[in-house]
Amino acid sequence: MLTGKAKIAGVMGWPVGHSLSPLLHGFWLAQHKIDGTYIPLAVHPENFEQAFRALPKLGFQGVNITVPHKEKAFALCDDLDDAAKAIGAVNTVHIVDGMLRGSNTDGFGFFENLRDRADPKLNTQKSALILGAGGAARSIIYALIDAGLPEIRITNRTRARAEMLAQVFGPLVTVVDWDDRGGPAALGSLGLLVNTTSLGMTGQPPLEMALDNLDPKTLVTDIVYAPLITDLLRSAQDRGNPIVDGLGMLLHQARPGFEKWFGKAPMVSPKLRQFILDHMAQKS
Ligand code: ATR
Repeated sequence: MLTGKAKIAGVMGWPVGHSLSPLLHGFWLAQHKIDGTYIPLAVHPENFEQAFRALPKLGFQGVNITVPHKEKAFALCDDLDDAAKAIGAVNTVHIVDGMLRGSNTDGFGFFENLRDRADPKLNTQKSALILGAGGAARSIIYALIDAGLPEIRITNRTRARAEMLAQVFGPLVTVVDWDDRGGPAALGSLGLLVNTTSLGMTGQPPLEMALDNLDPKTLVTDIVYAPLITDLLRSAQDRGNPIVDGLGMLLHQARPGFEKWFGKAPMVSPKLRQFILDHMAQKS
């Protein structure tokens, strides 16, 4: 039940109907018995600037921003945290005294998911290989540099996009050719292998990736979470590598926003994971 004092947040995207964020925040709002709501905001790109600038006037605490608005929100925020500046995109906005404060919690979500579920823990003394060079790759590279990894290799079908990221993030980042992604130069001495492409997602082409050159201790993770265990994760698991699925990244990236808007630090519990998984199973 909402009173006239209810706190309002939401997610702006186009389309937004697929977003799991209203369910996720709704779970936490109910768990903490908060007088607040989190709603889907389907905003066409043509209307984004007007809708975004109206949020403080409508009394919103803040919003999440999803595809295709993250770069536009970055350009329109009144101020930005370091992660948003480095990533060039905003996924979480907090409204304070009428000002739109942008942050990016995708890299935080990625790393918290590994911390939460990886056993053995990620070896941060070793290199990482990132498959893909889109927005998700960018936030993950930021998080891994922040965590102190000595080298980050990127491989992408369109090599120029990988080279662009190497330029942005500097000498810790090197580029490996997409055709060599299973070779020793890509997989040798690796602590972490991450798929950030859409390959392997339900309805998308498979990710073809030979793992013969991978150390059995290398942690393998995928940001794709539908299916939860992708072919990459299954192949890695079958040869004894530790794996972490991608659902937790979505859950953990939501924590900082919820805490800022509603004043309670939420937990990513097994019950929450199961709640989201049950919903995903109902839909498929
Ligand atoms: P996001 O912001 O979610 O990371 P994106 O910017 O669209 O999304 O990036 C999608 C990634 O999946 C890119 O690295 C893309 O490769 P390109 O840069 O070459 O487009 C990768 N990807 C998508 N379909 C692919 C395919 N069929 N083969 C190889 N890579 C693919």
